[in-house]
Amino acid sequence: MRIGIMTSGGDCPGLNAVIRGAVLNGIKSYGHEFVGFRDGWRGVKEGDAMELPRTAVRGISKQGGTILGTSRTNAFEGADSGPENIAATLERVGVDAIIAIGGEGTLAGAKRLTDAGLKIVGVPKTIDNDLDATDYTFGFDTANQIAVEAIDRLRTTGESHHRCMIAEVMGRHVGWLALHAGMASGAHAILIPEQSTTMEQIYAWVSEARDRGRAPLVVVAEGFVPEGAEEAFSERGLDAFGRPRLGGIGEQLAPFIEDATGIETRATVLGHIQRGGVPSAFDRVLATRLGMAAVDSVTDEAWGSMVSLRGTKINRVPFQAALNNLKRVPQDRYEEAKILFG
Ligand code: F6P
Repeated sequence: MRIGIMTSGGDCPGLNAVIRGAVLNGIKSYGHEFVGFRDGWRGVKEGDAMELPRTAVRGISKQGGTILGTSRTNAFEGADSGPENIAATLERVGVDAIIAIGGEGTLAGAKRLTDAGLKIVGVPKTIDNDLDATDYTFGFDTANQIAVEAIDRLRTTGESHHRCMIAEVMGRHVGWLALHAGMASGAHAILIPEQSTTMEQIYAWVSEARDRGRAPLVVVAEGFVPEGAEEAFSERGLDAFGRPRLGGIGEQLAPFIEDATGIETRATVLGHIQRGGVPSAFDRVLATRLGMAAVDSVTDEAWGSMVSLRGTKINRVPFQAALNNLKRVPQDRYEEAKILFG
């Protein structure tokens, strides 16, 4: 078979390890051929493909980013989109099946195309770890490690100045990164979208840490909004020129914490640093195994399935299983972490 691989959505450390795992297993175990589509669905729709012989994947599993490029292009937008156009393009470039490596949006597109008869299998990808039906997604471990290294550094400068330090980590809808990075770095408060938390509670945790002689450390997920504080934020969220402040949640929280507790407070947004650079060893192994398993799925013609991690085993689930719900931080994981706050 001639298999097309594409990486789509936000990039993620480990993407190249998936590509390498797929190509090596496909060539060595089955004699498949591979091409890579450039920039996610854009490359699939336009037939913009590059050959992926064994030499193309040599040594790439330790490289960050994706050798194929990525984009947030939708498979169902534009004149060249949709199942019929894409099927015609695949025929033109001689591709029999696609391995789609992506998050919720990518897999939702892949499901619609598979329902219309295209031959696609999926590999789950997101540093947010919010895809359901898989225990972990590759990239999460690396992003967490990067966040913890940065937060450890914030802590020493915070301690020197007796300041409260706020670290804002990624996570639009879920708080997995905040929870893990916060637990690993010994945060005095972890604020995540799944848990409604009042400003008073945040002030209490910060004050408690300060009263014990600590430099308070707050880890907040970018998607967190404090309970009942939206109005106050809009009132106070003006810059020196009276324009709305464009900062993230960490920067918005800082002046409130400073005013309420009297502790000088600084916020740092870790941002895309969390997605860059070399993948951790754990992510390289997970991504390689997922890539290899995706080729097994193609060979078995398990169209419409996604490879997933359950415990230590890689198995297959239907796309829909990953799309029903976001995988949120469960209450018991938050309660466990909360014992350490303050
Ligand atoms: O979904 C992964 C993610 O990194 C989120 O944590 C973050 O909110 C978003 O992507 C950022 O997207 P972009 O790179 O398009 O700004």
